[in-house]
This record gives sequence, C-alpha cells and structure tokens, in this order.
Amino acid sequence: DAAEKGGYEHFMLKEMYEQPKAITDTVAPRIKEEQIVIEELGMSDEEIKSIQKIMIVACGSAYHAGVTSKYIFEGLARIPVEVDVASEFRYRDPILGDGTLVLIISQSGETADSLAALREAKRKGSKVLGIVNVVGSSIAREADNVMYTWAGPEIAVATTKAYSSQLAALYLLAMKFAGVRGKITPELQREMLSDLRKLPKQVEVLLKQQEKVQKFANRYLAAKDIFFIGRGIDYAISMEGSLKLKEISYIHSEAYAAGELKHGTISLIEEGTLVAAVLTQEDLYKKMISNMVEVRTRGAFVLAITNEGNTEVERAADYVLYIPKTNKYFTNSLAIIPLQLFGYYVSVGRGCDVDKPRNLAKSVTVE
Ligand code: G6P
Repeated sequence: DAAEKGGYEHFMLKEMYEQPKAITDTVAPRIKEEQIVIEELGMSDEEIKSIQKIMIVACGSAYHAGVTSKYIFEGLARIPVEVDVASEFRYRDPILGDGTLVLIISQSGETADSLAALREAKRKGSKVLGIVNVVGSSIAREADNVMYTWAGPEIAVATTKAYSSQLAALYLLAMKFAGVRGKITPELQREMLSDLRKLPKQVEVLLKQQEKVQKFANRYLAAKDIFFIGRGIDYAISMEGSLKLKEISYIHSEAYAAGELKHGTISLIEEGTLVAAVLTQEDLYKKMISNMVEVRTRGAFVLAITNEGNTEVERAADYVLYIPKTNKYFTNSLAIIPLQLFGYYVSVGRGCDVDKPRNLAKSVTVE
C-alpha cells in the first residue's frame, strides 16, 4: 500500500500531483504540427459542421466537467449544449436524434446511470462519443467512438486527475469543433494551444501552495457550512470545489450561482461563515465583487480565488489565492487546484478517511 502511494500519505494527494502528467498525456498526442487531430472521433469535417446540438450526460465530477465545457462549446464553437446528470436524463424522454451529438463522460466507464443514458441515446438515433478513462470499460465499448483521457488508474474515490484530464479532452474537442466550423481564427487557435501547453507547468506551481492552503484549511475544521460562489465557468468550478470538500470532509457545502444567492442561500450566512468566491472571468469581476460584498456585510469570511493581477478583489475579500494567467476558457484547470487542496486538508485535519469516504464508491454500478 505504502509503495503504491509512492511516498504520499494518500492516493488523493498522489493523484493531485499526477495532474500535470495527466493533462500532458491527454493533450500532447492530439496535437500534430499545431493542428488538433482527434482520429478516434470518427467524424468528418462535414459531420462536425452538421452538429445541431450537443447533449452531455454524466454523473458527479464528470458532470461538472461537462458543465464547464458547455460554456466553451457554446462560447467558442457556437453549438447549443445541454448538460444533464445521467439519472435525470434517462427519465425525461429527452429529445434526441440525428443532429444531436451525445457526449458521455465517465472516469470508470462503468457508472450504471451513464451507461443506461448511452443506450437510450443510441436507441434514439444519436451518435455517442464516450470520454472515458478506463480502457475497454463498458461505456468505452458501447459508445460509437471513444476519446480516452489518459490519466492512468485512479484509486482515491474523490477524483482529481481524471477530472483534470476530462477538462483537457473537452478543451481539445471544443477547439476542434470551433476550428472546423470556422468560429476561431488560426491565430487564436495557435494562441490557445500555447496556453493549453502551459497548463501542466502552471498546475505544478499551484500545487506548491500546498502548505499555505493547509494552514488556511486548518482554520475551518469545525465549520458547519461552507459556500462556494461563482458565475459562468466559475460557477462550474464552484460546484466541483464544493463536491470535493463535502465528499471527503463531511462538512455541508453548497455551490451557488453568485447572482442567485440573494434568492435564498444568503439567509444562511452567519458571522464567520466561509464563502469561497471564484472569479476568473474578467467580464464578471464587478458583479462578483458586489456579491462578495453582500455576503461579507452579513459576516461571511471571504476567500477569493482569482487571476493574477486582479488586486481589485482585495477590497472585498479576507484572503486571496491567485492563479496564473491563461485563456479564459481554461481557468477551471487552475482554479480547481487550490480547491482540491482545501478539501483534502480539511479532510485530513478532521481525521476522515480521505481515500475511502463513508457511503461512497469509486464507481457506482447500481442505478
Ligand atoms: C462516483 C465517484 C465520483 C464520480 C462519479 C462518476 O460518485 O465517487 O468521484 O465523479 O461516481 O463516476 P464516473 O466513473 O462515471 O466518472
């Protein structure tokens, strides 16, 4: 066991440290002479141009990766996207067909609800692309095509490196679609590819904030509730940050679209409640800062996670963690690192079973 953990205290920590490699291994083989080449897609340019809608179906963190990608497919490739959790999708008689590309995202490739969703999509005549980590798994075998995330085996129940590699695969796919559909210029694509290649190094740098995040986490071991807020992609990051924390620390947490706070959640803010605010989308800084002020006025302690250079945020936050500059669509890959570390250290500090949290399974094979 100790040998398998390679000197790390937990598999989760080891796997967090494997993220730079997981991202590189997912991206590098698909870039050839500055072009994105995804052979396993099995779609001609004509087919890519004829996609009318993308339907993304997944569970847990894979669902959160899907939610992030919705903003990218829509923003960059201008293709309408729906995202649903697999256990809901199946029972709503979803409208699918020829023009809809269905993406099933799954680390294990064995999640029962996701597999059932895949079958439903095929039955209704849609083409299904699996984004899967485990080679030869059920979802990989049954999907029309499969794009593997090359994260390697993941042991900790709370996913980290598989999630990061799912994001990387989805970035490539969105950029590919945008390129083929003439929605991004070759210059922008080159610029984005260069940012994409920088991500692994940047993740490495963020992982070095380990001690700083641990110190901060130790202040919240007895917290009753913790809230995560964001807008747009930052809302998707918040959902994943909240899930990481609650699944392994057993502290109640919720992610909220920051603008929606005032419609309910804000009544839960008390003196000292921790609110983690994610703000990586420049056009939303101002709106976010006003939401941070709203909760702070009501006693919240505000942790901000934002881009380097956005020092403006310091007037509305009690503590700030900065992430390095990247393309606005890639920020999730960086902002999630301190949030993973935070969840991890709160769990460690509370003496929880980090790698095998109670009641949870790595792969859920019942519906
Ligand atoms: C379980 C795991 C989660 C995971 C989800 C989906 O709930 O604990 O970490 O995100 O299943 O799993 P999949 O293998 O389909 O990605």
